[in-house]
Amino acid sequence: MSLVTASPPLDVEAVRGDFPILAQQVNGHPLAYLDNAASSQRPLQVLEAMQNYYTHDHANVHRGVHSLSHRATDHYEAARETVRAFVNAASVREIIFTRGTTEAINLVAFSFGQRLQAGDEILITAMEHHSNIVPWQLLCERSGAVLRVAPINDAGELVLAEFMALLGPRTKLVAVTHVSNALGTVNPVKVLIAAARSRGIPVLLDGAQAIPHQAVDVRDLDCDFYAFSGHKMCGPTGIGVLYGREAMLQDLPPFQSGGDMILTVSFKGTTYNELPYRFEAGTPHIAGAIGLAAAMNYLTRLGLPSIAAWEAGLLSYATGLLLQLPGLSIVGTARDKASLVSFNIAGIHPHDLGTILDQRGVAIRAGHHCAMPVMERFGLAGTARASFAFYNTRGEIDQLLDALRLAQRMFA
Ligand SMILES: Cc1ncc(COP(=O)(O)O)c(C=O)c1O
Repeated sequence: MSLVTASPPLDVEAVRGDFPILAQQVNGHPLAYLDNAASSQRPLQVLEAMQNYYTHDHANVHRGVHSLSHRATDHYEAARETVRAFVNAASVREIIFTRGTTEAINLVAFSFGQRLQAGDEILITAMEHHSNIVPWQLLCERSGAVLRVAPINDAGELVLAEFMALLGPRTKLVAVTHVSNALGTVNPVKVLIAAARSRGIPVLLDGAQAIPHQAVDVRDLDCDFYAFSGHKMCGPTGIGVLYGREAMLQDLPPFQSGGDMILTVSFKGTTYNELPYRFEAGTPHIAGAIGLAAAMNYLTRLGLPSIAAWEAGLLSYATGLLLQLPGLSIVGTARDKASLVSFNIAGIHPHDLGTILDQRGVAIRAGHHCAMPVMERFGLAGTARASFAFYNTRGEIDQLLDALRLAQRMFA
């Protein structure tokens, strides 16, 4: 991720005070939580926003005539406005609350997917998370469409020329990750979007790993869909967002059906609600939306450029130290990387590394990271992955290194 030098530095010790969960011992050692790409932690501000809502204001939304229902609706819709502003969407009609990135992508695969016919093509890349592969595979099975995959090089970067060559008259959708969860690669999404849109092809970005680390402006990106999850950006689990360009959403058929997404229902037929409610069937995760808005306000207050600068420092510090360990190889060496490092140590299985590190209080992820095709591309069963957030410190990276040296001694 590019380093923004003009941003004020974070007071990380003060920031850590907002995250009591970080101040614990695990297996007799201070916790070093380096599994943020899987799920981040939540500050007190998010927990308090949700607690306040449940303590004072909870009722169902959009349907009550009583005060609590009005208040709950006001909070829920205010959260939608916070999300709109956070991603700079043109209208709240473009902000659909979902359970997370996975559901957001499934929504597009189901609704937009109804336009596809046999022989149409969907273009993804070889670095996608399973959530941005399997929904398209299912769509291809249903429709007879074909999934095309743009390759990546040995550094884990998209091979741009091949991507461009795969954009053809039959391409009906491009679905690309903004940042790879397995490699850390930041894709040149503006270039990809410009190329697709100049051919009239809509683009979905999987923003799950991008939005916690950098400012995202959907209008500047000019994407048609942007999907992300609350729990990776200090918000609650079970809440996420699909941004959809209004002109695109307007014509799409509903996804899930039931209450809230309808205007009228009779046994002769049903008419659907306006945007964005047409895509939000059933009682939503009201507290989740409120918590997500609180997380966005928190990140905005810290400043996304300051977050990006701190995390870039952590990434280069960790990369430099890791490369000093004998037998360690980094998987994913793209020029533009988010703050995570995937690696292997010769002779030690990533799961063993993960277990030994846990004994020293260090939480990392080990395995295929829900990106089995990436592992296949590099001929690996899995990797160990340390992923950093703005509340991580160089001291925690030192702790990671000490634990890795211990693992090496155990396997020597
Ligand atoms: C790049 C990417 N896409 C999609 C997802 C799925 O997110 P969720 O499980 O929150 O739906 C993840 C989660 O790790 C991810 O890293």
